[in-house]
Amino acid sequence: MRRAAAIAGALLALMLAVIGGLLVRGIAEPVEAVPAAAVAANGPTAVAANGPTAVAANGPTAVAADGPAVVARGRYLALAGNCRACHTERGGLAYAGGRAIETPFGRMYGSNLTPDPTHGLGAWSADDFWRALHHGKSRDGRLLYPAFPYPSFTRMPRADADALFAYLRTLEPAATPNRAHELRFPYNQPGLLALWRGLHFRAGTYRWQADRDAEWNRGAYLVQGPGHCNACHTRRDAMGAPVLEADLAGGLIPVQGWYAPPLNGTPGAGLGDWSTAEIVQLLKTGVSARGSVAGPMAEVVAQSLQHLEARDLQAVATYLKSLPPAPAAPAPVHGEEAARVFAAGAVLYERHCKECHGADGRGMPPAYPPLAGNRSLTQTSPANPIRIVLNGGFAPGTAGNPRPYGMPPYRPLFSDAEVAAVVSYIRNAWGNQAALVGTTEVDRFRSAPLE
Ligand code: HEC
Ligand code: HEC
Ligand code: HEC
Repeated sequence: MRRAAAIAGALLALMLAVIGGLLVRGIAEPVEAVPAAAVAANGPTAVAANGPTAVAANGPTAVAADGPAVVARGRYLALAGNCRACHTERGGLAYAGGRAIETPFGRMYGSNLTPDPTHGLGAWSADDFWRALHHGKSRDGRLLYPAFPYPSFTRMPRADADALFAYLRTLEPAATPNRAHELRFPYNQPGLLALWRGLHFRAGTYRWQADRDAEWNRGAYLVQGPGHCNACHTRRDAMGAPVLEADLAGGLIPVQGWYAPPLNGTPGAGLGDWSTAEIVQLLKTGVSARGSVAGPMAEVVAQSLQHLEARDLQAVATYLKSLPPAPAAPAPVHGEEAARVFAAGAVLYERHCKECHGADGRGMPPAYPPLAGNRSLTQTSPANPIRIVLNGGFAPGTAGNPRPYGMPPYRPLFSDAEVAAVVSYIRNAWGNQAALVGTTEVDRFRSAPLE
């Protein structure tokens, strides 16, 4: 029965994918390569100045041919792409693979990217690596799953892929075997993946927009390419890949149950009223006057974005600020029970939350984020405030905010109804506006994985 249901579900998903694919195809634009030299010219000079000798000294001699500047650029791109996060098991050797990635179809494991000849990329050529990053195909021709964000990495020009490969070859080889993915039927069928790719995946490097300046293009490239921001900030399709026509309009990360808010200018939801300086501060330090980040975004900031050069973060913010708004969600209409829920929530807030977030909800940023006007709370999906009230959390420890303040977990203290009341309250106090949260929604997030 369950298998039949799964097949029916998959068929339905496929039908939707086919229809979606036809729509996408109709408007698909041709892609052309950005001149590699243009990208190389924007490369991280500061990084090249700091790192290269140390890296070259460690690296195998074969790599010396690539030159320290290339290796340094590859290292920088690996930071921008957060490659290490998915390709390193907790407590394991860097890039030796084994990190579990939960998807709606089962568990996948990041693979060993070290130069080990048997278990890693030791036997790979630069052409093999390019095929993986640009075409989503492994060395043996196997199609790769989009849990590996190659639908974004395909935007990287060959020179950047080669630089990444040169950097990976300087790593310490680790003889750690790859773990087999644990995918459920029918998602473990290669035919399904081939079909999805035929409909939704287009290989193509970033296309330089001649009517925009270099900073905007650099930002667009980092966001769409190595930064793969749309892997989380966009709704996903049946195969778990980002739906590109909904670019950066926000999305719920499946299984993990975090909502990545819109990064476009959507009123009341996106970054429309953030300044570029506030965006840069959040990406650099994890905290800002507008809110702080927790969960998967805290990891992205800690492992990836805080290491980017200031001018690259500025470019990212400039690009994000240029994204057009989507229509705002309609204002919520509160029923009769709302007054009772808000009153219960206000009592809890007064007793448990006020000391840090303030009676006026303004907090004390950057230590304690404001809740008034905080977009992360008032999205249509209440996932983030429910999660953080249940589990507490920390903004990431970053060079710009080395000792983050913590938020205590209320899971042991509050019933589902109490969490629902206090979250409904903070979503509607101080001029905030959002739908009430129900106890069943809270219950659902009690069992969501913690990371
Ligand atoms: C969100 C998690 C994630 C991130 C970020 C990520 N990867 Fe991966 N990667 C995966 C997963 C999962 C696979 C396995 C896919 C499969 O087997 O179908 C994979 C596979 C690969 C492969 C193919 C390995 C093989 O044996 O076929 C390469 C090469 C690779 N990744 C390189 C990179 C590089 C370079 C970066 C950074 C620019 C990166 N990955 C970032 C999750 C990730
Ligand atoms: C692994 C998933 C993931 C990736 C990749 C990711 N984000 Fe996020 N992002 C999130 C989540 C989840 C939140 C909400 C976190 C919170 O409120 O604590 C978030 C929040 C944000 C916010 C704050 C928005 C607000 O309204 O509060 C910004 C800005 C942001 N991300 C930018 C980016 C950029 C730029 C990139 C790419 C360079 C990126 N993110 C990549 C998951 C992700
Ligand atoms: C001891 C101080 C403290 C108390 C008490 C506290 N918080 Fe927090 N809260 C924080 C800190 C610090 C953060 C930032 C954590 C992070 O970024 O992960 C935070 C983050 C949050 C966020 C996410 C904001 C964002 O920008 O993503 C929400 C929602 C929140 N708190 C609600 C509450 C509610 C509701 C209560 C009472 C039930 C409460 N807090 C009690 C310190 C506190």
